[in-house]
Amino acid sequence: MARGQLSREEALACSGCRHACHVMLYADTTSKLFGSTPIRHIVLMQMRFDGLLGFPGGLVNPEEESLEAGLSRELLEELGLEVPITEEDYVETCRAPPLSSKSTSRLILHFYVKKMEEEQIREVEKAAASTAVDHGLEVMGKVRVPLFRTTHNGGLSFFLSHSFIGSARSQLISSLLRLGLVSPQTMEKALRKSLRMHA
Ligand code: GTP
Ligand code: MN
Ligand code: MN
Ligand code: MN
Ligand code: MN
Repeated sequence: MARGQLSREEALACSGCRHACHVMLYADTTSKLFGSTPIRHIVLMQMRFDGLLGFPGGLVNPEEESLEAGLSRELLEELGLEVPITEEDYVETCRAPPLSSKSTSRLILHFYVKKMEEEQIREVEKAAASTAVDHGLEVMGKVRVPLFRTTHNGGLSFFLSHSFIGSARSQLISSLLRLGLVSPQTMEKALRKSLRMHA
């Protein structure tokens, strides 16, 4: 297990810990950017109220609901429609990055990935901007992640140079690589470029 990671069982046994669940929803697509560049995949993130990018989801209370039921409840609030999440969609659990180097975080983060049909993702995007009770409040809008590199090295690299909540940036990068949505070479170039933009 990678550093900072813990098993779901260990995490749920922690008394006094808070839990949050977030999910990366994605779909394959045949759409083309400018009518010529295949975009291949749709990956959803959101602009949060605090200006940071993150995944849909939120705090769950394992004493009252399962992790998956809590995540589905958050999705109803933030996406405006029901997206059933099951244990099959579960990926990993880690502790939130501590606020200071001396403390350990009492916030535990559970991460999920769910593949959908393109039509379903489009329904999510529509509902998120219309029926979601948190639209314009907790969540400022859904965004698709550009997975390609444009001629001027933009696209994924510029996206990765934004600011992300918690470990959302590394959750995004490792999911894109693990699912093969972005090649290691493209990711390496995008990461190098995004670091230069921060310098
Ligand atoms: P409230 O209903 O206002 O409490 O918000 P929420 O339940 O929707 O909680 P939120 O989505 O803000 O998640 C709770 C905490 O989890 C945040 O304060 C962050 O520390 C962390 N967090 C939020 N989004 C992500 C994410 O995409 N990835 C990771 N790793 N952590 C996140
Ligand atoms: Mn929420
Ligand atoms: Mn949330
Ligand atoms: Mn909440
Ligand atoms: Mn809320």
